[in-house]
Amino acid sequence: MVNIGVLVSGRGTNLQAIIEAIEEGKIEGEIKVVISDNPDAYALKRAQQYHINTRYINFKEFKNREDYDKEIIKTLKEKKIELVVLAGYMRILSPYFIRTYKNKIINIHPALLPSFPGLHAQRQTFEYGAKVSGCTVHFVDEGVDSGPIILQKAVEVSDDDTEESLAEKILKEEHQIYPRAIQLFSEGRLIIKGRRVFIK
Ligand code: GRF
Repeated sequence: MVNIGVLVSGRGTNLQAIIEAIEEGKIEGEIKVVISDNPDAYALKRAQQYHINTRYINFKEFKNREDYDKEIIKTLKEKKIELVVLAGYMRILSPYFIRTYKNKIINIHPALLPSFPGLHAQRQTFEYGAKVSGCTVHFVDEGVDSGPIILQKAVEVSDDDTEESLAEKILKEEHQIYPRAIQLFSEGRLIIKGRRVFIK
């Protein structure tokens, strides 16, 4: 049973998929808190509907990223969080945060990394003309979308896809692989060796 803290900034469909997987008994874990940098994030409403603790922390009240992250960490420590899940969280974590939760922070990215890291990955994919895309769950290190890869799922980019339809196709797969990766973590089955993650 792993204590999970989720960081969100937006609509929270991945959060929803994780909540549902927990309810269905597919993840042996509990979301102890959902934290957002955006007071209007729909993800906060979703969490509240399931009576999950939420907290909004205003970035403007802190003098830099590290101080902001320290406030987040304070809450994560209070809740005894063992796994930090980034689910559409739009800020880069400080090195301090990453050191504090080394190999205990995961993220989902809507492309097959290392292709198309950063913002608007689906648009980048579409505009580049790639024929295959997908999503990636990875551990978070100090770079942008650069940590060891846990799971990936590919989708085809077809001729009649638009940026939106591609994003939708990818999202559907995100909702499958993110809960799965969390379950593997909670079972202690993810072994990191250098850049590679082995599933035992
Ligand atoms: C997803 O596309 C995810 O891959 C990216 O941000 C988006 C979050 O969507 N990191 P949602 O808030 O989970 O609906």
